[in-house]
Amino acid sequence: MAGGLKAWGIFLSVLLGVVSNWQHWARGSSPQVPCLFVFGDSVFDNGNNLALDTDVTVDYLPYGVDFPYGSTGRCSNGVNRADAIADLLGFENYIPPFGKGNCREFMGGVNYASGGSGILNTTGYLLGQRYTMDLQLYNHKIIASRIAKELGGADVASKYLGQCIYAVEIGYNDYLNNYYGEGYNSSKIYTPEQFAQLLVQTYETQLERLYNEGARKVAVFGLIRMGCMPAYKNIFGADESSCVDKLNQAAQLFNSKLQKALPKLNANLPGAIFTYINSYEIDSENVTGLGFKIYQYELLSRS
Ligand SMILES: *[C@@H]1O[C@H](CO)[C@@H](O)[C@H](O)[C@H]1NC(C)=O
Ligand SMILES: *[C@@H]1O[C@H](CO)[C@@H](O)[C@H](O)[C@H]1NC(C)=O
Ligand SMILES: *[C@@H]1O[C@H](CO)[C@@H](O)[C@H](O)[C@H]1NC(C)=O
Repeated sequence: MAGGLKAWGIFLSVLLGVVSNWQHWARGSSPQVPCLFVFGDSVFDNGNNLALDTDVTVDYLPYGVDFPYGSTGRCSNGVNRADAIADLLGFENYIPPFGKGNCREFMGGVNYASGGSGILNTTGYLLGQRYTMDLQLYNHKIIASRIAKELGGADVASKYLGQCIYAVEIGYNDYLNNYYGEGYNSSKIYTPEQFAQLLVQTYETQLERLYNEGARKVAVFGLIRMGCMPAYKNIFGADESSCVDKLNQAAQLFNSKLQKALPKLNANLPGAIFTYINSYEIDSENVTGLGFKIYQYELLSRS
């Protein structure tokens, strides 16, 4: 898909801009940074939910149909974006999932992302277990202390962790499996404006926790047009050529608050480089004419 490739060109130039000062020592096939840590939901999950009791399982075809390892817990036919970032940064292997916490190779980074999870703890709870953003940060704390043990001290560990890239994308489920999801009460409590405010405030605190654990170079992904996702066009009854306006507006509201929050973090936290990734515009291409077919299927908690 040409649109996808163009999007990646834009995204990578942003990410590599962040890491360009590492290129001078990158030689041969060694990665441009020593480690990559990944946080998020099903967009980035590469197997964490396999360890959980959840409806968000993807360990069957057609997931993985184009992947040499088959279905691996990625919500994708092949690699996902987190894998692509690892690949383009020059990592030889995909970043291993945290799983139940037993991953043995963690010096090159860990993927904590969990399908169905959100910024808020209650998000996705009707789907079963998931590593919420707070739990992902808790899991990262465990890994950071293992790294400190490996390197022989907290100081050297935080120096090391400051050299890593952190890729963070979350928020879709706070809308799709919370605010606009059936069985959740947040839309009765908050206006869209108040809810976006709550999400971004909570997210800021979470990003600050990540910083306190040593993170400095953090790529924070905004939301794409959720209202154009085939499954949600289906759920909310948008026709082939249109999208669900309220979902796209929610994404824009969230994104604009997030985009304003990051420079504030950068100003307040010495050495922090939180970079906003404008996914909404990167992914702006009209995909209606590209030949996607939407099949009617039984959807969880809506019939
Ligand atoms: C969310 O859960 C974490 C632990 O998983 C807890 O520390 C935090 O206080 C909870 N947040 C709220 C708002 O309940
Ligand atoms: C909303 O739902 C959450 C999760 O089930 C629950 O903890 C909370 O008490 C509810 N709030 C209201 C106002 O009903
Ligand atoms: C997207 O493309 C389709 C087919 O090419 C066209 O019918 C539709 O009007 C376009 N939608 C927008 C929002 O541009």
